[in-house]
Amino acid sequence: MFKEANNLSMKVAWFDAEDWEKEYLEDKEYDLEIDFFEESLNSETVELAEGYDAVAVFVSSDVNGEVLDSLDADLVACRSTGFDHVDTEKAREQGIDVCNVPYYGANTVAEHTFGLILALSRKIYSAIRKVDEGDFDHEGLRGFDLEGKKLGVVGTGSIGKHVIQMANGFGMDVIASDPKPDHEAAEELGFMYVSNEDLFRQSDIITLHCPLVEQTEHLLSEEEFDLMDGTVLVNTARGGLIDTEALIEALEKDQVKSAGLDVLEEECFLEDDIGYLSEMEDECDPKTILEDHILIDREDVLITPHNAFNSIEALQRITDTTLDNLENRKNVVNGF
Ligand code: NAI
Repeated sequence: MFKEANNLSMKVAWFDAEDWEKEYLEDKEYDLEIDFFEESLNSETVELAEGYDAVAVFVSSDVNGEVLDSLDADLVACRSTGFDHVDTEKAREQGIDVCNVPYYGANTVAEHTFGLILALSRKIYSAIRKVDEGDFDHEGLRGFDLEGKKLGVVGTGSIGKHVIQMANGFGMDVIASDPKPDHEAAEELGFMYVSNEDLFRQSDIITLHCPLVEQTEHLLSEEEFDLMDGTVLVNTARGGLIDTEALIEALEKDQVKSAGLDVLEEECFLEDDIGYLSEMEDECDPKTILEDHILIDREDVLITPHNAFNSIEALQRITDTTLDNLENRKNVVNGF
């Protein structure tokens, strides 16, 4: 037990617990009795949840039907926006509420997006590597200014709009595409909506901020890359928005000059490298995994490990919302 609580407090099993979470929660006021478990919640560890009123889990947990069958809890609090690691349908049938954290940091992902844009425009990674090797020569390190360049933003939801605000600070000219345009935002932030086709044709830098759904899968493939001529491409949304094979081809043909990717079409091999989610191996396509490795090895591609969300403040906001969800049963995603 972590905090002294009254007899009526809800008992919570907090899985995937990290030290910083325990420290952060030490200074927080809440009326919950929380026990922390480093383990993820899954079929092997579900016994740990015996006798608890609620469980709090990260995406590394696998709250499948078998787990739900054994749970005493009637609330699963996901410490994430996504909840595809929980069988929400089965939970609903069993009267178990599942809640999520719908918003925690559009600025966080937007800042990472600009991190990638600047790393590419000013060749920051190559520059640092050169100096690490004791080489202070400027050879190969000439970049380009962002001021005056055309930024194409695909998807003007919360993250896209934050990116546009930041682009304005750099003096960039912004165009955007979205099937549900926000004309008020366009007026306020001074950007123009165009078709995807015009955006791909006109942009110096393209950045993706739309969800991966059936209609957006391989939004960028050969046909779209054919519209580009030396574009810089940034993707902090989802890997499946880009046809990886077509991207490699577009880089070869200089249709895409360079790319900054926080997400890849298949991320399971990366997960394996850091030691979890290996059970996803069967679901991953080996051809795409190989293509991802080709991208990783390229000098003109910078890749970060799906890390755009990972700031102190964003994670604290996730924790705060989770406490609120647990105490007040908010953000239930599988409502009756
Ligand atoms: P949002 O729902 O606020 O905005 C998404 C926008 O994309 C909406 O305005 C929607 O109308 C638009 N859209 C849908 N289909 C489109 C299309 N075909 N072309 C252009 N626009 C289209 O979502 P938010 O919060 O801005 O997040 C965007 C994406 O960022 C998420 O779907 C998620 O995949 C990704 N993300 C990545 C993270 C990371 O760590 N790398 C963290 C959080 C989100």
